[in-house]
Amino acid sequence: MDNGAKDILILAIESSCDETAASVVRGGRQVLSNVISSQIALHTQFGGVVPEIASRKHIEKINQVITQALEEAGVTLADITAVGVTYGPGLVGALLVGVAEAKAIAYGAGKPLVGVHHIEGHVSANYIENPDLEPPFACLIVSGGHTHLVIVRDYGEFEIIGRTRDDAAGEAFDKVARAVGLGYPGGPKVDQAARLGDPHAIEFPRARVEGSPYDFSFSGLKSAVLNYINHAKMTGEEIVVADLAASFQSAVVEVLVSRSVLAAQEYGCEKLAIAGGVASNSALRGAMEEACHKAGIRFYHPSPVFCTDNAAMIGVAAYYEYLKGTRHGWDLNAVPNLKLGER
Ligand code: KG4
Ligand code: ZN
Repeated sequence: MDNGAKDILILAIESSCDETAASVVRGGRQVLSNVISSQIALHTQFGGVVPEIASRKHIEKINQVITQALEEAGVTLADITAVGVTYGPGLVGALLVGVAEAKAIAYGAGKPLVGVHHIEGHVSANYIENPDLEPPFACLIVSGGHTHLVIVRDYGEFEIIGRTRDDAAGEAFDKVARAVGLGYPGGPKVDQAARLGDPHAIEFPRARVEGSPYDFSFSGLKSAVLNYINHAKMTGEEIVVADLAASFQSAVVEVLVSRSVLAAQEYGCEKLAIAGGVASNSALRGAMEEACHKAGIRFYHPSPVFCTDNAAMIGVAAYYEYLKGTRHGWDLNAVPNLKLGER
């Protein structure tokens, strides 16, 4: 890396779902500020994200969050090299707020604009605290909307080798949590409840997708949990939430871990990383650590704050895109179903 690259400052903006976030990142991996305004409390009363409310809240918060990110980093807009922003995938109204804001700031300050794929951002979160991590490596991406197994060939270059056929892993956590009354967002609640439960108490299915060793399917598991709950309610049996949470979680974790490690081995990767909101799950982190250790693979994971949605990860991804020459025009639009690897 030359000296110029080391001094590159990215102002990054993220608003694809229910967090309004801004960050300043120096030299690709040094996070100078990471401001996140979460709307979780607001959406909790509806049991999930209400897109219209999310967009309105982003509009209210975004200027404040950006100002704070610049202040905490001790820089002004004039110091910034480029503005990075998530332009997809996500909720269209939510994405549009960040994209419009980034375009206005970049245009007004005369800075280049770099649109970032949200999932590329999640993967890039691994670079923040792991200075030695460089592609190639295998990465399991598990968020509320995505479950992908990829080989990261180079910065921003992905080979997708597996994906979910139905629900995303985070979606399964959220649906199961709602069914047992743990509330929203389900992942952290299930994680918490499972700590006191027995993962072997209830036998839930570990689904395989015939002929696709790296694909996932969670709808059967979700149905099995719902059937279990309905059956218990009909027969008047008590549901031990901690046991149910632990048993469900271990079924998810087992398939995520076994498929990821197999992929790393088959593709000759010595490194395996995890990314996305579900990557902050304590059981998944523990099981990955153990399985990777046994298989002689180095395991990488971001701190929880960099697993769930944040703008620092977008700043890191924008930095590598910037170095590759990615620039977007003032016609950049939100792309709610942007595919990984698409520009
Ligand atoms: O990456 P993220 O913040 O947003 C998306 O891009 O989707 O992921 C949110 C998802 C939610 O489904 C949430 O329940 C899940 O990540 N999640 C967790 C945990 N923390 C967040 N799932 C399991 N265990 C956790 N500790
Ligand atoms: Zn996300």
